[in-house]
Amino acid sequence: MAKKSVLSGIQPTNQLHIGNYLGAIRNWLTMQDEYACYFMMVDLHALTLQQDPKALAASCYFGIASYLAAGLDAKKVTLFLQSHVPAHAELGWVLTCFSYMGELKRMTQFKDKSAKQGENIGVGLYTYPCLMAADILLYRPHYVPVGDDQKQHIELTRNLAERFNNRYAKNIFSVPHPFVGKVGARVMDLQNPGAKMSKSALNSKGTLFLSDSDKQITQKIKSAVTDSGREITSYGEASQGLMNLLDLYAAFAEVETAEVCAEFSGKTYGVLKVALAELAVAKIAPLREETLRLSAERGYLRGILQEGAERAAGVARRTLAEVYETIGLLS
Ligand code: TRP
Repeated sequence: MAKKSVLSGIQPTNQLHIGNYLGAIRNWLTMQDEYACYFMMVDLHALTLQQDPKALAASCYFGIASYLAAGLDAKKVTLFLQSHVPAHAELGWVLTCFSYMGELKRMTQFKDKSAKQGENIGVGLYTYPCLMAADILLYRPHYVPVGDDQKQHIELTRNLAERFNNRYAKNIFSVPHPFVGKVGARVMDLQNPGAKMSKSALNSKGTLFLSDSDKQITQKIKSAVTDSGREITSYGEASQGLMNLLDLYAAFAEVETAEVCAEFSGKTYGVLKVALAELAVAKIAPLREETLRLSAERGYLRGILQEGAERAAGVARRTLAEVYETIGLLS
């Protein structure tokens, strides 16, 4: 029986952070044997915001190097850049024509961003979910591992797939399921624990980047926002900031949060921060060093990306050809 497939992607804006690692990449690792996996850097999505060309290119290399350093095996999984497979942009246009203004306007991410940017918000930020739907539907994946902020986009993808299939009474697209890992859902900003950790947060002190030095990691954790309390009591009563630290400890240690609470119960926040900083450094440092080593090996990375793009394009092109034929575009 053919393996079920999964697909996911991360934007190459800035450096990857521990939310990407704990929430996304580490979940992907567990899937690489069981599923046919497609993991990409969604560089076309990054264009929804203005990018510095050199920094964008460097982030693409850094991102793929992080995937490999974390343990994804390029022989087992297909690693590629979205822009290397033209079918993404092509199907993205078709799906844009199948989407309604109303449904795109309802996307929470767009609403948040347009509230901040008003009328000058880029059109790309508005139509971005159509491109994301194309990324997904081209490969007919069963699961799409994402953080819970992306579930609404997967829901839209499912709607577009069904709308398309119904309109032509043909099963062209399979309807994908979101897969939200336990931790994936919620790695929060260290300075602003009400918000998800983000690459583009204004204050980088709240984000633990995979490229951070041991000193930066330690400082960021020590200055993480908690609350006016002193000692750890129970998870249920913990403030968002404290809960985030307990969750992070559990994620790095790969144990349940309840165990961490029991371990630190009655101890001060300071004790937890010191222990978390040590654990985070122990986990991030080897990943950082390997990522940096691999990011410099441009020829090697280009080889992997080329191979990945060829494999991905083979699948994507076939789906796109079926779509074009179905809607009446001549081959
Ligand atoms: N929108 C996703 C994010 O910002 C990234 C993304 C683009 C993606 N295309 C995708 C994720 C396809 C999963 C599948 O996190």
